[in-house]
Amino acid sequence: MKERILDYLKKEHEYLSGDEIAARLGISRQGLWKHIQDLKDLGYDIVAVPHLGYRLESSPDRLFALEIAHGLNTKFIAKKIHYFDYLASTMDLAMQLGIQAASHGTLVLAESQTKGRGRLGRSWFSPKYKGIYLSLILRPNISPSDSPMLTLLSAVSICETIKNTVGLDAQIKWPNDVLICNKKISGILTEMNAEVDKVNFVVIGIGLNVNNDKKSLIAQATSLKEQAGQPISRILLLQELLRRIENNYSLLEDKGAQAIIDKWRNFSLTLGRRVKVYYQDKHIEGQAVDIDKDGGLLIRKDSGLMQKVFSGDTMHCR
Ligand code: BTN
Repeated sequence: MKERILDYLKKEHEYLSGDEIAARLGISRQGLWKHIQDLKDLGYDIVAVPHLGYRLESSPDRLFALEIAHGLNTKFIAKKIHYFDYLASTMDLAMQLGIQAASHGTLVLAESQTKGRGRLGRSWFSPKYKGIYLSLILRPNISPSDSPMLTLLSAVSICETIKNTVGLDAQIKWPNDVLICNKKISGILTEMNAEVDKVNFVVIGIGLNVNNDKKSLIAQATSLKEQAGQPISRILLLQELLRRIENNYSLLEDKGAQAIIDKWRNFSLTLGRRVKVYYQDKHIEGQAVDIDKDGGLLIRKDSGLMQKVFSGDTMHCR
């Protein structure tokens, strides 16, 4: 009901009579008043003037499910949203929900995380109301070895979203760091529940630095606010990201991995460069030549030998 009340208030910039809203929604004036109080408690600035009605002055910068769902128009992504002021990690909850049969596309969102985690045992700094911290539960009909494609797809979706909403060029450092001006702005963590030849579900975790101030970030990291020189609406950004993920997921289903890899190449910062990739206590150095259809990075060593790596930590040498 609160979504529908907000819909009315957002469409109309003038005062809307309480009688009219209540009648259209089939609720009592008293019921409407109660919902308006709840919305005010959430931070919506709604002015009530006798004989004129209600007017929405401003909305809070919160990723409430009702804000994200408003005008999202996706088919399966984020049809179900779990929103929290804080969580230890959205990954933990999403993995639990996956086991409990949460539907394909279920979204877990937190305004902050106390134990946000990154790849290779690292942590993800998740200050409150500054970034986007999400986990998405997907149930693709693929084998476990194809799951890296979902990470590539997510990285592409993040770059497209940044370009489309903020107008900035972001690039991907293989396998899944998104950078602007060589500084990390977003990271992706993919976890999976699978059997030998069948994926039960995948959880894609995305952390994106949005309105972090420069002084709160380490030297190798940046935020959209720092890069754009102004605060960015997390709501519009997140909505666009969810739409992009859905479109690219459908592209993967319809056209196959090659379509995603082609897009990925356009955003790649790694291909064509000399790299050192650290993996399983080893490292390999050489020229990053291409990305394979399974998401692996093809490296030409100085000996001329080609080698493929599937995951690791990449350093761009020059
Ligand atoms: C990385 O770059 O190492 C991956 C970072 C992934 C961070 C996100 S934030 C939302 C989700 N919950 C987590 O605990 N981690 C991921």
